[in-house]
Amino acid sequence: MKFFVDTADIAAIRELHELGMVDGVTTNPSLILKSGRDIAEVTREICELVPGPISAEVVAADAEGMIREGKHLAQIASNIVVKVPLTWDGLKACRALSDDGHMVNVTLCFSPAQAILAAKAGATFISPFIGRLDDIHLDGMDLIADIREIYDNYGFETEILAASIRSVNHIVEAAKIGADVITAPPSVIKSMANHVLTDKGLEQFNADWAKTGQKIV
Ligand code: G3P
Repeated sequence: MKFFVDTADIAAIRELHELGMVDGVTTNPSLILKSGRDIAEVTREICELVPGPISAEVVAADAEGMIREGKHLAQIASNIVVKVPLTWDGLKACRALSDDGHMVNVTLCFSPAQAILAAKAGATFISPFIGRLDDIHLDGMDLIADIREIYDNYGFETEILAASIRSVNHIVEAAKIGADVITAPPSVIKSMANHVLTDKGLEQFNADWAKTGQKIV
């Protein structure tokens, strides 16, 4: 399973990257806003730091505008993945950009039907949003499972990039189903290390060690 980090926060990306935990990065307009940075500047910096696929999202509503913006974003670095929304125009842009040799991430996917169209349009990645389906009392994980089954039935090569991940359980469940990639905020990835029994065990070891009066170095 590949780990992408869902952020435009350079310091947070660097910390995880130094541990070898970053296979790529995903950004979107909301994350660019949160970073307070210029999109071209921060995206270039991320591309220089991480050699894997870096998703940068277009904002135009029509295919022509998306293609123009996508080509512009792709000039930032060779590892840019153009992110387009799962609309009819987004699918047109996906086909054109993909035919032009660019990697494309089709985002805001909420149904298996949408995921089939993205694969047919040549998407490199499909981004089903788990958390936002859970938010409206649907099961985001069912969507990941459905897409996995359909893509495997027909050998679609589009990678399933599980997005809108809010918890450690989301990551583990997506891994069990066989999502190719997860993208999660740095805080969620870091919280995968936490376990109450680890803390409890460590407390006991430290207490016992103090009683030995020894030092290792
Ligand atoms: O990459 C976009 C996606 O991960 C957004 O997540 O938490 O805003 O639904 P969220």
